[in-house]
Amino acid sequence: MRLLLLYFICLTASVFSTDKLRVYDDSIPDKPIFSTSEHTQITKQLNAIGVRFEQWETNHPLIAEATPEDVFDAYRKDIDRLVQENGYRTVDIVRMSPDAPKKKELRNKFFNEHTHTEDEVRLFVEGSGLFYLHYQKKVFLVLCEKGDLISIPAYYAHWFDMGEAPFFTAIRFFTDPSGWVAQFTESPIAEQFPRYE
Ligand SMILES: [Fe+2]
Repeated sequence: MRLLLLYFICLTASVFSTDKLRVYDDSIPDKPIFSTSEHTQITKQLNAIGVRFEQWETNHPLIAEATPEDVFDAYRKDIDRLVQENGYRTVDIVRMSPDAPKKKELRNKFFNEHTHTEDEVRLFVEGSGLFYLHYQKKVFLVLCEKGDLISIPAYYAHWFDMGEAPFFTAIRFFTDPSGWVAQFTESPIAEQFPRYE
């Protein structure tokens, strides 16, 4: 297994105070038609649209200065399990912080609807970020937090907001990293929905 390392220093956390899952009609971004913070409900709703969503134990403490190798070492068993289970060939670590030098650029890049030719698989081991899944005229806002595993199928329209003061560490799994290059749909839909603030 080849390991790619991406690393950003992180220091503080952002806060998200509304429900962990909100579902909208894609033409009515003002008011959700369903919302919940109950994990069983969230998993059921997301499984029904083909998205894997699970809670994993992520209790290994990571210091602010932790290196990507430290993250790999802390979560080696979980990484090995997912790799063996799904045949992923590359794993990397993304660590974002409010003082990351390119945070605005990175935030804007992924806050546009796009697809990939392979699944987008993330295990959040620190912090949080907000995924938006566009499926059959609905938009699902999924707050991914420490302990959440999400797998968004290939060719699935989605976008992501890390917030103005990003804070998260996510382990990313790839079958072929070239398949993860974003194919943007050029749709303006992302701008119509609430951001992660
Ligand atoms: Fe993506």
